[in-house]
Amino acid sequence: MTLTLTARRLAGLGGLAALLLAPLALAQERFSLFVPSAQPTVERLVKLARIQDSDVVVDLGSGDGRIVLTAARQNPKIRGWGVDINENLVRQSNEEAKRQGVADRIQFHHRNVFDADLREVTVINMWLFPELMRLLRPKIMAEARPGTRVLTHLFDMGAWPADEWDKEGGSAVGLWIVPARVEGYWNWQLALPGLPVSYDAIMEQRFQMAEGVVRAGNRRGIFQNVRLRGEDLSFTLEMTLDGAGLTRHEFSGKVSGDQIRGTVRVATPDGKTVELPWQARRTTTTAYFRPTGIDTK
Ligand SMILES: C[S@@+](CC[C@H](N)C(=O)[O-])C[C@H]1O[C@@H](n2cnc3c(N)ncnc32)[C@H](O)[C@@H]1O
Repeated sequence: MTLTLTARRLAGLGGLAALLLAPLALAQERFSLFVPSAQPTVERLVKLARIQDSDVVVDLGSGDGRIVLTAARQNPKIRGWGVDINENLVRQSNEEAKRQGVADRIQFHHRNVFDADLREVTVINMWLFPELMRLLRPKIMAEARPGTRVLTHLFDMGAWPADEWDKEGGSAVGLWIVPARVEGYWNWQLALPGLPVSYDAIMEQRFQMAEGVVRAGNRRGIFQNVRLRGEDLSFTLEMTLDGAGLTRHEFSGKVSGDQIRGTVRVATPDGKTVELPWQARRTTTTAYFRPTGIDTK
């Protein structure tokens, strides 16, 4: 039960004690109880995470440590850690890590999940009350690197849709991939044969769902088939370019901070296709909004 609920109950009792204690309890963090994930569910979580040798696997609210320890047993190279608010569970988990001979690469810390450092991790497990996971969502988005895999079961992440669900078995197990931040203004140039073109794009984003529009000269187009998975971004664009006609583009690249690097396949109406490097950079202003005028074809 959360302390918030406890506070509500106290408030329901009435009286001076309730009046004094309720605001105090409401000011506290929320905590989930310890309920261990069933071992078959743990196995499914680890499978869905597709653990690789270089992974750093963590569990926010690690309980008896079973998720990180299971991952470590399955892959002798991964590193990992867990944090839990319950000191006894942390002690037990560290003893179990020693007993299993993995304490050199797996550690458990007595810490609040909100104080965990998520910058270097690649796989995040958590099975907490939904409201607690909802409160952690912005921390994950802000701190975890694009491509970080987030897993839970039974519950979901609110408006952030899962990238994959495994619904075969007991409780549904879900995988969410932290998307790169693509929202904003982007510019790139393409050296099409005999025709240098500058593109000014605007991307909008909600989690892994992204949309985009672009301007080249006085022509505008809409990105189609936009796919954002971690740092991997791809989309197609069909638009008329002055001097070339209706041109089909297939962009694919990796987003790294304020840069995107990849390739674009460009097919022009004369039947020619070229593959070019694609290097986009984030900008603070955009030519997309420049006056277009009324002299458009
Ligand atoms: C439902 S259990 C899940 C345990 C484990 N992850 C598993 O799946 O078997 C939730 C765990 O989170 C811990 N916990 C709850 N709130 C926490 C907080 N704010 N910071 C750290 N740990 C927390 C609890 O002590 C409990 O061990």
